[in-house]
Amino acid sequence: MTVHWNEHQEPLGSALTLIHTRQSTTSKFLGEPGPDGAQIETILGAAGAAPDHRRLTPWRLVIIPAEKRQLLADAFADALSERDPQATEALRREASEKAYRGPLLVAAIARLSPALGSVPTPERLLSAGCALQNMLLAAHAMGFGAALLTGKSLYSQRLQQLFQLADTEQLLCFMAVGTALRAKPLSSRPTMGNYTTTL
Ligand SMILES: Cc1cc2nc3c(=O)[nH]c(=O)nc-3n(C[C@H](O)[C@H](O)[C@H](O)COP(=O)(O)O)c2cc1C
Repeated sequence: MTVHWNEHQEPLGSALTLIHTRQSTTSKFLGEPGPDGAQIETILGAAGAAPDHRRLTPWRLVIIPAEKRQLLADAFADALSERDPQATEALRREASEKAYRGPLLVAAIARLSPALGSVPTPERLLSAGCALQNMLLAAHAMGFGAALLTGKSLYSQRLQQLFQLADTEQLLCFMAVGTALRAKPLSSRPTMGNYTTTL
């Protein structure tokens, strides 16, 4: 798609509105309806437009469908026990509940194998971050709420097994998408002066 910026000012205004009105929805407040099949393709398709040095696609996505959430729930609980063998059943249950967040739940995995190409790890992680932001913005543009979810379980053997991670892969986060069940006022953000200096 070719965008002629001088002829059409709307894309700039729309892009900035989209960027500045996006904010995370606490994953507990992401409900039905979630994106349908075509909308999921649109959201996940946006990831493919991320900057990607040497076009390695140094990340991959795994959708966790409703019928597989129990597998993830068990893995979250076991990951907690892996870290803390004394963890109570109540704590295991609390950990497992995160597997049911969002009608759409996607895992983002970094591909860090040197065999993929000579692009250093920080560049690959930046590409993954851009892919995630593209998806968050696409979901927001479609009227959905979304959140990124992390935690110590990302580094557990149990989740490595569930997602069949190679030694050179790292689970980065989960992205949950759904209908925002609670409206939240826009939070204040840092502005250019807060994070920019001139050399
Ligand atoms: C890599 C990454 C992981 C995150 N993991 C969590 C998380 O596990 N739990 C959570 O509540 N928020 C998580 N967040 C969301 C941030 O807390 C949230 O983006 C931040 O509060 C700013 O809010 P905004 O997205 O509305 O601007 C994560 C954000 C990033 C970038």
